[in-house]
Amino acid sequence: MWAGRFKKELDSRVNSFNSSISFDSRMYRQDIQGSMAHAAMLARQKIISSEDAEAIIAGLGDILSDLETGVLEIDHEAEDIHMFVEAELTARIGEPGKKLHTARSRNDQVALDIRLHLREEIKEVERLILKLLEAIFEKAKAHVSTIMPGYTHLQRAQPVTFAHHILAYAQMLRRDIGRLDDAKKRMNVSPLGSCALAGTTYPIDRESVAVELGMDGVTENSMDGVSDRDFVLELASALSIIMVHLSRFSEEIILWSSSEFGFVTLDDAYSTGSSIMPQKKNPDIAELVRGKTGRVTGSLVSLLMVMKGLPLAYNKDMQEDKEAIFDALDTVKICLEMFTAMFETLAVNSEAMRCAASGGFIAATDCADYLVRHGLPFRDAYKIVGQLVAYCIECGKTFEELTLDEYKSFHPSFDGDIYDAINLENCVNRRDVIGGPAVASTEAQMRSLAKFIESRK
Ligand code: ARG
Repeated sequence: MWAGRFKKELDSRVNSFNSSISFDSRMYRQDIQGSMAHAAMLARQKIISSEDAEAIIAGLGDILSDLETGVLEIDHEAEDIHMFVEAELTARIGEPGKKLHTARSRNDQVALDIRLHLREEIKEVERLILKLLEAIFEKAKAHVSTIMPGYTHLQRAQPVTFAHHILAYAQMLRRDIGRLDDAKKRMNVSPLGSCALAGTTYPIDRESVAVELGMDGVTENSMDGVSDRDFVLELASALSIIMVHLSRFSEEIILWSSSEFGFVTLDDAYSTGSSIMPQKKNPDIAELVRGKTGRVTGSLVSLLMVMKGLPLAYNKDMQEDKEAIFDALDTVKICLEMFTAMFETLAVNSEAMRCAASGGFIAATDCADYLVRHGLPFRDAYKIVGQLVAYCIECGKTFEELTLDEYKSFHPSFDGDIYDAINLENCVNRRDVIGGPAVASTEAQMRSLAKFIESRK
């Protein structure tokens, strides 16, 4: 390929060190798609003849179908997917094949291919997130009234419901989709025509190529067009945040499935045993998802470091973008798939949740609010309930078990209706503000989620 300039053969080790075909071959479809649009434009602009363009497009079509059916195999000796396709085309159609690279460089070609490829990958990640949102919706529907303790500092704090708890994750995942949409917007412009770095002297029509490729416009500066990888960084960042969310959800499932909590039971098909301890049932999927979060954020950091300090315009360093972003995508996709399967099939132990909620004085705030309703300033009420809690701990009682006389000995305002005030269902359902755990508020949250899911179909 470098014929003319070079007098020596390339060291064979340089060839394999330099080559990116082992990972960029996954962009073969987009590479061919981009080349077809480019060839058609060259003919429209009379830069090549329409016969040549037809031969090129037909040849590329054949290469594509031969790759899809396995008739043609990727040559791993090729430097990259761009060289491979072009060499294969020329081997098949001869002269016209040599005209395809007119008014183009691999620099703008690769920048286009990644954009087209990642654009499709984003769609797939969004589809998988939607599946998880649907699973959350179904579980929430079944547990709108399932009382569980809500935690702060991992200490029982106030009563919520299982639906309310898991719907918090639905909010995170909806924002994740928003971030992916946003990344897609800036990604979906065509750099083709930037050529090596300084554009071209040929009378090309960049806009029509962008339209043909379903892109929203063209990059406005040729040097930026070939050297920008912000869209890769943005996607890696959105993927890392998805993993952070999944890792938090995983951590909770790991805790909830422990004997200490017993809030959920993982399905046998989605847990694993121990090679030595016969009693064990381990939450391996959740742990792996939690662990792979390190790997995806590692890719983000790699990408940031590859781009840091790079002078304009194209530098070979940028070839390093692909393995990192592809690995991050593969990891997020498999994690979403496995997490959803595990989550859908886990059983919720409502009794254990209810029991834990009854144990930790989580109605203490409501008890203080009761006294406030009887005219006490909140700080005074807070202090009295604190003393009540200390008393309960001392004699091993819960709020429900205290007699009215015991209550009255702490403050005369306590009356028979205190038992209603500390009833956990009432505590939850009085929290009917927007975003609260009350059944009515939860149902509003779920309507919004259903609408979102519907709007994405
Ligand atoms: N394989 C290269 C990459 O991924 C394609 C661009 C090569 N350009 C160049 N000037 N060597 O970045």
